[in-house]
Amino acid sequence: MSSLKKAVLVLLLVSSLSVFAVVKIGALLPLTGGVSAFGDLVKKGIELAHEERGTVLGEKIEVVYMDTRSEKTEAANGIARLIDKEGVIAVIGEVISGNSIAAGEIAEKKKVPMVSPSSTNPLVTQGKKFVSRVCFIDPLQGTALAEFAVKTLKIKKATVLTDVEQDYSVGLSNYFIERFKKYGGQAQQLNYKSGDSEFSAQLSQALAFGAEAIVVTGYYNEIALVAQQARALGFKGHILAGDGADAPELIKIGGQAVEGLYFTAHYHPDAPITQVSKKFVEAFVKKYGVKPSTLSALGYDAYMLVVVAIDRAKQKKPELIATAIRSIKNFQGATGVITIDGNGNATKDVVIETVKNQQFAFAAKISASELK
Ligand code: PHE
Repeated sequence: MSSLKKAVLVLLLVSSLSVFAVVKIGALLPLTGGVSAFGDLVKKGIELAHEERGTVLGEKIEVVYMDTRSEKTEAANGIARLIDKEGVIAVIGEVISGNSIAAGEIAEKKKVPMVSPSSTNPLVTQGKKFVSRVCFIDPLQGTALAEFAVKTLKIKKATVLTDVEQDYSVGLSNYFIERFKKYGGQAQQLNYKSGDSEFSAQLSQALAFGAEAIVVTGYYNEIALVAQQARALGFKGHILAGDGADAPELIKIGGQAVEGLYFTAHYHPDAPITQVSKKFVEAFVKKYGVKPSTLSALGYDAYMLVVVAIDRAKQKKPELIATAIRSIKNFQGATGVITIDGNGNATKDVVIETVKNQQFAFAAKISASELK
């Protein structure tokens, strides 16, 4: 082969290599199973963010999606696959706390950063260096829900329904009850399990107790069913929930029974906080034809924050990216201004939403600084 031919060949090889060099980011999401609506919403936010910012360090970004089937073991297996087989240098996910706790153990062992858009239980990041999140945590959320129940709705007696299979629900129930009792409220705490569809036993106890509010701290499917059955039994009081209510499926399943339900949320598109929020809502409506849900906004923020961290790390080294994530301050996100603290958490205001005319409507905002 002539030296010229050789040179051409080498050039071709080099250029094809750089064409194929990509930055791989994993997206570990519940795309099927019990909370698949959540996975779908986060994916929409990530896809929009990826369209807006598709390169970093001069290379194309490839997002590798991995379904957890809404299960803890699959979350752990899925993140291992993303890291070992796909070679991702950072992971966005999981959505629900139990799955993020399971996946986070693996991220920590393998020293690859994971950023949850939405998992709010304290244990998700506790004692970890590689796991962070772009949302507030449940002590704040539970306190906000109790403040609203007591101060705005004047509730003194509440039945709290806990999904004992979900770390999120167990934690949120405790934080709510703690603050509710501090104000002299009386709480009755009852359990159920993910996937349950029959709540008459718990609801008759709630009625006998004289509950003025039923607080369901789990996820949308069960919240919607509890609401329907409570109304069918003639319950006239308030129905409250945490951020686990925040998917359009709540209304699709619950219909009129969830009308007037209040829940704590991270964000509402009608109350944009930053310049980025406004642009995000416009771009989302243009792409999908509907206003973004909270989880789409949080997914968008998690992706953008990871990309900024990769940029600042200047190299495709997971450990450097993890350090960069932990030093992010005043990041202008769609859901607000995000500063990642030393424990990997963000502190943000809590929004109270309600269902009005079969739509999510902004009801109030409780600023984080008021919740001490
Ligand atoms: N906070 C919930 C959890 O930790 C997940 C969630 C967040 C669901 C936001 C809906 C909206 O499990």
